[in-house]
Amino acid sequence: MEKKAWWKESVVYQIYPRSFNDSNGDGIGDLKGIIEKLDYVKDLGVDVIWLCPIYQSPNDDNGYDISDYQGIMKEFGTMKDFDTLLEEAHNRGLKILMDLVVNHTSDEHAWFIESRKGEDPFYRDFYIWSKEKPNNWESYFGGFAWEYDETRKEYYLHLFSKKQPDLNWKNPNVREKVYEMMTWWLEKGIDGFRMDVINLISKMDGFPEGEPIPHTPYTEKNPYVVCGPHLHEYLKEMNQKVLSKYDIMTVGEALNITLEEGKKITDEREHELQMIFHFEHMNVEYPGKEKWTDKRFKLVDLKKILAKWQDGLKDHGWNSLYWNNHDQPRVVSRFGDDGEYWEPSAKMLATCLHLMKGTPYIYQGEEIGMTNVKFPSISDYRDIEILAAYDKYTKMLGYTHEQMMKCIYSFGRDNGRTPMQWNDSKNAGFTQGTPWIGVNPNYTKINVEKQLRDKNSILHYYKKLIKLRKSHEIIVYGDFKMLYEEDPNLFVYERILEGEKILVVLNFTKEEQTFNPPEEWLGKEAEVLISNYENEGKITEKTLKPYEAVAYLLKN
Ligand code: NOJ
Repeated sequence: MEKKAWWKESVVYQIYPRSFNDSNGDGIGDLKGIIEKLDYVKDLGVDVIWLCPIYQSPNDDNGYDISDYQGIMKEFGTMKDFDTLLEEAHNRGLKILMDLVVNHTSDEHAWFIESRKGEDPFYRDFYIWSKEKPNNWESYFGGFAWEYDETRKEYYLHLFSKKQPDLNWKNPNVREKVYEMMTWWLEKGIDGFRMDVINLISKMDGFPEGEPIPHTPYTEKNPYVVCGPHLHEYLKEMNQKVLSKYDIMTVGEALNITLEEGKKITDEREHELQMIFHFEHMNVEYPGKEKWTDKRFKLVDLKKILAKWQDGLKDHGWNSLYWNNHDQPRVVSRFGDDGEYWEPSAKMLATCLHLMKGTPYIYQGEEIGMTNVKFPSISDYRDIEILAAYDKYTKMLGYTHEQMMKCIYSFGRDNGRTPMQWNDSKNAGFTQGTPWIGVNPNYTKINVEKQLRDKNSILHYYKKLIKLRKSHEIIVYGDFKMLYEEDPNLFVYERILEGEKILVVLNFTKEEQTFNPPEEWLGKEAEVLISNYENEGKITEKTLKPYEAVAYLLKN
């Protein structure tokens, strides 16, 4: 039997502070705003809050460009507010997971300011400098990944924006400084880290050229930066020097990672990280390509990916389960239906995710079925990635405005960043001022207050799912088995633990579908654990309603 751990039994709630709750009317969410909503978060039944970056930052990439790791962004409040937040969260039994962004800093960080002067030998090699432009690598936000610095008269590497220079992890002093900073936060009492693009910290030696794409003067995102030669060595060192000294949760964001590499990082015997966020299911519409498309996913592809990771990490690793975060479109719009079947499809997707094996992550607003947004003009958008891509695709790759907007409506990151919809008052109750980004106009229909009143709401359904996990060990520790993998409409799986079994049956379409239960379940009387329609315990051939979800529990 699996080793038990609190972080395996937990449910995480992710907060994007900028868009969560604004307490002072400046249009930007803040720490006091989060404190005001802690009872709401606690009431959901979750155990851990993952806070997106709250550190000092010039906000080129909304806080993922940090200029002081030990200071709080002024729009969000003060360190005193943070201490109160931590204390108030702990008083309610909620843990706090902090975002750790150490692949890069802001170019306004003191380390970079020193490094670009090139004078102090301690800081000179804190970043990745080169006299010549070494290769054609493209940054994740478009454009070349090497920027010429007028002060130092050399190029530096930035895999994200040019205001996010990459730290040089080869330099032991960089690693020591990072570990020191991590220890400082852990000593303050935080409960773990979500590590931003952690699998990019080691770059391929020799900086090989990337593959050119024929139709653009730019080059393919380079494949040489993920899971570089020293990644595991650095993670082991970080674990030994910092992480292993605390009883904490760790999850690493891992771009373009393969199962083999994911296994190595999460293998408990390797002492690196507990979980990763892989992206394979998030890239299901555009594997190996850029995300600027308006294609819809195919269920069989999605199932194969999820089953592969469920199986792949089953022995010594652990899965994180997520549909949403601040970089992804809203799941109900993406894999469900945000029109007629909004409610059943949001519940179906929640069932699908929460009953698989792993630690589930809920992104703010997912629990009320928040949807994608369609702002009319590109000037309504705020995300650096969207704006750079709009420029590149319309100016260089021949997309029309309409074509590109369709892609942004499907996959733009701002879909996940519109303000949290608390109620049907002005600005959805998010702010008394002017919100930094527009509110989704559907807030009068989709909001927390309304769903708290309605016992059949998506919100109450999430609460029920979370509660089930607390009372059924099988949901946490049971083995996973995918059934009917080739079925294009149904997602069906089993969970198995000692004398118990769960059968999860999900209709991923707007049409009715016939479900023929597996032989061994046929005719059995089971307990209906949860369903988004009325369901009885007897398992027979049945017609599933649009986006129907039902989970049966069978005891021997
Ligand atoms: C991943 C973060 O989730 C994303 O928001 C950010 O832009 C990049 N890493 C760069 O830090």
